[in-house]
Formats: sequence, C-alpha cells, structure tokens
Amino acid sequence: MCKKNHYEMTFIKYLSIDYMSKIFKHFKFLNKIHNYGIIIWRNEVIKMQIPNLKEAKIRTKKDPKTFNYEIKEELKEIGKNKKYFIKTYGCQMNEHDTENIKAILEEMSFEEVDTMEKADLVLLNTCAIRENAHNKVFGMVGRIKHLKQEKPNLLVGMCGCMVQEEVVASEILNRYKWLDIVFGTHNIYDLPNILKKAIDEKKLQFEVYSYEGDIIENMPAKRDSKYKAWVNIMYGCDKFCTYCIVPYTRGKQRSRKKEEIINEVISLRNEGYKEVTLLGQNVNAYGKDFDEECGMNDLLRDVADTGIERVRFVTSHPWDFTDEMIDIIATHDNVMPYIHLPLQSGSDRILKLMGRRYTKDEYITLFNKIKEKVPNASITTDIIVGFPGETEEDFKDTLDVVNTCKYDSAFTFIFSPREGTPAAKMEDNITKEEKEQRLYKLNELVNKYAKEKNNALIGKVVPVLLENVSAKDDKMLAGYTDTMKLVNVKSQKDKIGKIVNVKITEAKTWSLDGEIV
Ligand code: 5AD
Ligand code: SF4
Repeated sequence: MCKKNHYEMTFIKYLSIDYMSKIFKHFKFLNKIHNYGIIIWRNEVIKMQIPNLKEAKIRTKKDPKTFNYEIKEELKEIGKNKKYFIKTYGCQMNEHDTENIKAILEEMSFEEVDTMEKADLVLLNTCAIRENAHNKVFGMVGRIKHLKQEKPNLLVGMCGCMVQEEVVASEILNRYKWLDIVFGTHNIYDLPNILKKAIDEKKLQFEVYSYEGDIIENMPAKRDSKYKAWVNIMYGCDKFCTYCIVPYTRGKQRSRKKEEIINEVISLRNEGYKEVTLLGQNVNAYGKDFDEECGMNDLLRDVADTGIERVRFVTSHPWDFTDEMIDIIATHDNVMPYIHLPLQSGSDRILKLMGRRYTKDEYITLFNKIKEKVPNASITTDIIVGFPGETEEDFKDTLDVVNTCKYDSAFTFIFSPREGTPAAKMEDNITKEEKEQRLYKLNELVNKYAKEKNNALIGKVVPVLLENVSAKDDKMLAGYTDTMKLVNVKSQKDKIGKIVNVKITEAKTWSLDGEIV
C-alpha cells in the first residue's frame, strides 16, 4: 500500500504496542517518556499515551504535588438535561472514587439514574485485583456496546485500576475504540475537561498516566450514606507484595496532611455523620512518606479526639501495626474494636515468596496482643490459596492459623496472576481443581468460626448504627455493630441514622437478628 493510501484509510487502525515499541526504540526520547499506541483516524495520526508497568513501578524521593480540584465555570452546564449511570467494581477505595466522580458529574449538571438504559453517560469504575473482575467488566462493556448501537449519542467510559494495566489499555485501543472516555486513577480530577473534549471532538479520549501520583484536595463527594463516610488518608502503596497489582495501578504511597484529614472529619461530624472509615491500602504506614514525625498513631488519636461517634480504618498491614496503635484502640471508646488484618498465607515459605515481611509466628503474636488488649475486638482477614508452588504442607499452615485465630470472618481468594507482577512469573504447578478444593476447605473452616462467633453473641446487647431498610424485609432495618457485624432489627424507619442498643436473638453465618432494647 502506498503512503498516500495508507493515510487515507477511514477506519481506525491500532497498531499493537509491541510493534510500536519496536518502532519507537529508534526514538529513544519518546520511548523513555511513555509507551505510545498509534491510532490513524481520517488521515490523522494520533499518538496515545498508554500506561507502562515499568514506569508505574518507579519510586523517587520527590514529594508528591498537592493541588486543589477546581472546575471551570463553562463546564458546569455540559450535563444539563443529561443522565449518568456508574457501575463500581472492587474495593472501598474504588467506591469512594465513585463518590467523587458522581459529585464531579453533578457539578457538571448531570443527574444520576439507576439503570444504564436511562442514561446518556455510562461509566464503569473498574478493579484490577483479580482476573474475574476483568472478565466481568469486559462482559459489561459488550452489553453497553449494544446500547450504544441503539443510541449512538450515548457516552461510554471506563476508569479505575483496570485501565492502568498495560494489557488492558492495549485491548481497549485494539477492540474497544468506540468508547468515548478512558481515564486512570490519577486523572479523576480532570474528568470535566476529558468529557468536554470527548463531546467536542467525538473521538476517544484516553487519559491514563503511569506515575507516582499527586494529592488532590477539595474533591467533592456525593456520599452513598448520610451517616457513615469514607475518608482517604493516603493513596497508593509501596509494599509491592509480589502478587499485587495495586502499587502499579495506584502509584506511590502519598499520605494526606493530617490537618486536611481532621478538617474533613470535623466537617462530616458537623453535618451529622456518625462514623468515618479512614481509608488507605496500608493505613498503618500513614505518614511514613513525610519528613516530619506524624504517623498513624497521632492521626488516629486526633481523629478520635474530634468526638465523631465511630472511627474505623482499613486496611492494615501486620508489618506496620504498632503496640501504641493497639493501646489507642483499647483506650478510645470511639475507635471501633474491629480490625481487618490480612494474613494472605500461614506458611513462612509462601509469605516470603509473597514479600509480606512477617512470619506465621509474628502474625499470631500480633493477633494475640490485639486480643489481649482489646478482648472484644473482632478480627477479619484476607487469605490467598494456590499461590505458585503452594504445597499441601503450606496450605495446612494456613488452616492452622485459621484454627488458631478463629477469625470473625475472612475474604478468601484463589491466586490470580496479574501480568507484570513478580508472582505472575513464578512457576505455578498447582491444578485448578486443587486450588478450588483448597478454597472450599478453607471456606468451610472460615464459615464454621464465623458462625461460632455469631452464636456467642446471642442474648448479648450490642450497639448498632441503623443505616437503612433491610434488604431481606422492608419492615426491618439493617446496620452494623461496633465490631462490624451486620444486624437486622424490627424497627420504625425514624431510627435510621441512630446508634441503638440491640439484643441479639438469632445468629446466622453472615448476619444477626435482634431487637432494640
Ligand atoms: N490474586 C488473588 N488475590 C489477590 N489479592 C490481591 N492480589 C491478588 C491476586 N493477584 C487479595 C489479597 C488482598 C485482597 C484485597 O485481595 O488477599 O488483601
Ligand atoms: Fe497490595 Fe500488599 Fe499494598 Fe496490600 S500492602 S495493596 S496486598 S502491595
């Protein structure tokens, strides 16, 4: 094909990243800055930055930039008479990002609707942690494509951790170039501009950066609840557990300034919020990226001192959990006796391969210390089975820890190789069936202890923050105990938003029934 014809192509052609990176090897300066995909669209060659795992891994000593979110006046009417629908996958961090995205869209005059069929803008906020999340998202994208065929003006977007993955970015540019906006975890604050460009230029806007990340203050949030709120205390993660994609998709650990966090908690308290959950991938490492001395212990104490009725935090890494932190939980009534303490594996050999930096004994010692000082604490965990090379002996060590700790509950997963992480390259000689059997066995044990823990509450009176009408019965309200157990209670709706004392009458594996006393 002659050069002229080549540029006259009127269809989009995306050249694979591998191929492009070979070409760009000759343009070292470009290759150094970013990977590029190339789209040829109506005679125009458009270079697109695509995320790059090697860059996403870089950690420098540079302080992150902090700046305030702002929206230009002229972008505030873009969504007038238009509706949006957003679907969220994954963790609490994503849920809170969605709250920010919703508020930004509403500042642009979009209105939320509860089904994608009613929407003019559909957004998927994605999760990269395991392969099944990936499959679910692309299944959904397929459904939305049909909607777009019926409604060509429908705007469709993808954001979140998945689009930060190099393989996903290339898949989008190869097969899903009909999308209108794709933006990464570092680009949320820029949504108004990205959306405006997509509407004006009528072509895909792909804004995904691989870098350490900034801190954006002043982000608006449309919170799901009027009574409990997520409060980000840090972004990113520097732990690089060998199976985990998060340090690549969310960047370097960046702690928010304590004053900003305290001000947010005070505002929430003044607005009538009863509970805050301090959010971070690894909250116990809060402040380790500051020059001055200010860690999680100072922060937790000061958040408790705001007088907000309930304070929680997720997620803790056992490595950074200090004795002082346990004392703060033990001595502050408004710091809830609930700790999520991921174990991942009970085998020292596997823990080492995972890069977790603690042993089985160290974990159990920490667990016992917490139980000793906070006897009513409920402790939950995350466990991965079928990590590459996990033997029956290794798996037995995991069961052994579960038998020792008797968790209140646990999230259990089969190892899912994430491209670009060290564990994805490790030899994995365990069959799918073996992994499934281990998961089944583990779940049976976890469920047994969860039920036992719940049974032990029958007859006890516990404080419950009633949040909404129960999903199982509209004459009941549902809420959580201080120890994070779901309770259904027969009650009038005027009790929603109140912390009430509830006598537990019945226990199931995952929830409790009770009556207000
Ligand atoms: N495969 C399976 N589970 C994983 N998790 C994180 N990465 C993976 C992976 N590649 C689990 C860990 C973590 C939780 C949020 O997800 O248990 O604590
Ligand atoms: Fe992932 Fe480990 Fe960081 Fe948790 S601490 S987000 S598991 S790398």
